[in-house]
Amino acid sequence: MSKEPKRYLVTAALPYANGPVHIGHLAGCYLPADIYVRYLKGQGKDVVFICGSDEHGVPITIKAKKEGITPQQVVDKYDGIMKNAFKDFGIDFSYYGRTSSKTHHETAQAFFKTLYDKSVFKEETTQQYYDDEAKQFLADRYITGTCPRCGNAGAYGDQCEKCGTSLNPTDLINPKSALSGAVPVLKATKNWFLPMGEIQQSEQFQNYIKRFDGWKSNIKGQCQSWLTEGLQSRAMTRDLNWGVPVPIEGAVGKVLYVWFDAPIGYISATKEYFNGSNEWQKYWQDDETALVHFIGKDNIVFHAIIFPMMLMTHGNYILPTNIPANEFLNLEGDKISTSRNWAVWLHEYLVDFPDRQDELRYVLTSIAPETKDSEFTWKDYQTRVNSELVSIFGNFVNRVMVLSDKYYQGVIPTVYQNTTDEKLIAARTLCFDGIAKSLYNMRENLDAVKLRDAQAEFINAARAGNKYLADTEPWKLVKTDEESVKAIMFDALQICAKLAIAAEPFLPHTSFTLKAMLNAPKLNWSSLFNENLLTSAHQLGKPEILYKQVEDEEIQIQLDRLQRIKTENENSQKQAALTSENSETKQLQPVKADIVYDDFDKIDLRVGKVLAAERVPKADKLLKLTVDLGFEQRTILSGIAEYYQPEELVGKLVTVVANLAPRKIRGIESQGMLLMAGNDFGKLYNVGPEKDIEPGSAVK
Ligand code: MF3
Ligand code: ZN
Repeated sequence: MSKEPKRYLVTAALPYANGPVHIGHLAGCYLPADIYVRYLKGQGKDVVFICGSDEHGVPITIKAKKEGITPQQVVDKYDGIMKNAFKDFGIDFSYYGRTSSKTHHETAQAFFKTLYDKSVFKEETTQQYYDDEAKQFLADRYITGTCPRCGNAGAYGDQCEKCGTSLNPTDLINPKSALSGAVPVLKATKNWFLPMGEIQQSEQFQNYIKRFDGWKSNIKGQCQSWLTEGLQSRAMTRDLNWGVPVPIEGAVGKVLYVWFDAPIGYISATKEYFNGSNEWQKYWQDDETALVHFIGKDNIVFHAIIFPMMLMTHGNYILPTNIPANEFLNLEGDKISTSRNWAVWLHEYLVDFPDRQDELRYVLTSIAPETKDSEFTWKDYQTRVNSELVSIFGNFVNRVMVLSDKYYQGVIPTVYQNTTDEKLIAARTLCFDGIAKSLYNMRENLDAVKLRDAQAEFINAARAGNKYLADTEPWKLVKTDEESVKAIMFDALQICAKLAIAAEPFLPHTSFTLKAMLNAPKLNWSSLFNENLLTSAHQLGKPEILYKQVEDEEIQIQLDRLQRIKTENENSQKQAALTSENSETKQLQPVKADIVYDDFDKIDLRVGKVLAAERVPKADKLLKLTVDLGFEQRTILSGIAEYYQPEELVGKLVTVVANLAPRKIRGIESQGMLLMAGNDFGKLYNVGPEKDIEPGSAVK
């Protein structure tokens, strides 16, 4: 589409409702989509921004099995959690739907029926893998094996996440059931296939793929290589009981393939947004609409090839204008993984960093995996927040606001005469030229969906403002030349206003706060390149700090948490290895020789409360605890440092052997012992009372 579109329909991949949202999700598609949409809306464009929960497919049923609940319970639980997390981070969807909705089921079924009636599908009875133990066909993620294309041993029945190829279960080398681990058997079943190879040859498809030329190279490259290899037919139905029932006779016990129904979710959510009116059709059927899909790289084939094939064989629908797909975000040297809990969860971030959403948005955009995989580390988070948001943008705004308050009681000064001082004139020119250039580049980059570069230009604009103050030092100049200071402060306030506008797509919360501080809530994008946004005599609001410094301790807590998870994962891996290698080693300790009650009664066991805990220098395994026993406090050394972080013990109730003779360890007297439940496979847990009870209470 070369001419300016009349309206935009922007979508962000519907996340599977099987877990909370983490930074990888946010950086991968929701944040970039939100920035882009905010930018379009800022310019007054007509935009609908669609997302929702993907509630079907194997990822949901696998999760249900794992948690011992029904698939419906899984999606009901996570739909709300995800929706709220997006909201908290300012991801401003026009509508967030769900694929379990009635509208969606009807829309997806009608879509399928249209293709069926047009004889698009090939009906075929084929041999499909079946798990004889679980009595179930193994579609998609129910089956794993080696990718025939790249050799990845963990490929799924529908896709290899390593090379992105879409697969059929029968393509896998050494297939294995993900349900039971069993080697599957083949069993005949009837399904409806989308003949992708045939559609690939059609004129319509050949015309469509010309669009790839204007797209990002990652997506272009992937698509080109599949097309060169030639596309295979793909079943659009599954032998499963969770999903949208196949709407034709003789299809009992079959549902639509999740990748058939999910993208139709974009359409049904648009319908729901327009509340039963026909307005939605403009966004899906008028070719003056630009359809833009934001996705992660594992979704490319479905959005760039399969869904467009569905849309074009159906007829009446527009095809995607652009698909800005991102690569993956890693975390501290490792792939983000929900099952291994290797992630920064949005809801947890907000507990540790309340009201600091924009800091995370900022960092994730700075490192957005736009062209290749990238990496989030907490150190880098700290550095970027402190040296960019705090020291440049925050510092500039704060100086301007505080000085305006101090010199002019927050009223924008009137400038009677411009300075003739050449040094001041040069600094001003440098600053304004710099800002104009940065904001211009920012806009170009936003248009090209290069959001990382766009945000960097935003910071450059703030940097130019900061430099203007550093070069002219109004806080010194005020003693000798009040008129020039008025001119500088007037300029600086205009810059603040520009930054408040320009920040909006990236840092919406900050933009809001800054506009309120400037007492100019209506500042908007259309005036970004205007000269004077605020007028003399305008009363400003109160100065407020935009960003807090990120402290070393805050970062340490996050690193400790990840370290703990790593240790847990390693331990459970070790345990799994032990279990499978040699089941004898898993035997529990034999029971000790009998004792009489009097022997037991000699031990004085008491409830204690941990008041303080710290590591013992040069002793990896030891923690030094201060424990309140009610009648006195004890110092107790315990060999649990590999299992517990000091801070997580503080406040915990423990069971103490209170009459164990004191013993010196590493020069420190230990006055008791804690009871722990442990085994040989790397587990150790505190044995404390189940409910709150006074320290000193007897354990008997
Ligand atoms: N649920 C899929 C995933 O998380 C994405 C679905 S996108 C849609 O990978 F187009 F199908 F909706
Ligand atoms: Zn592969």
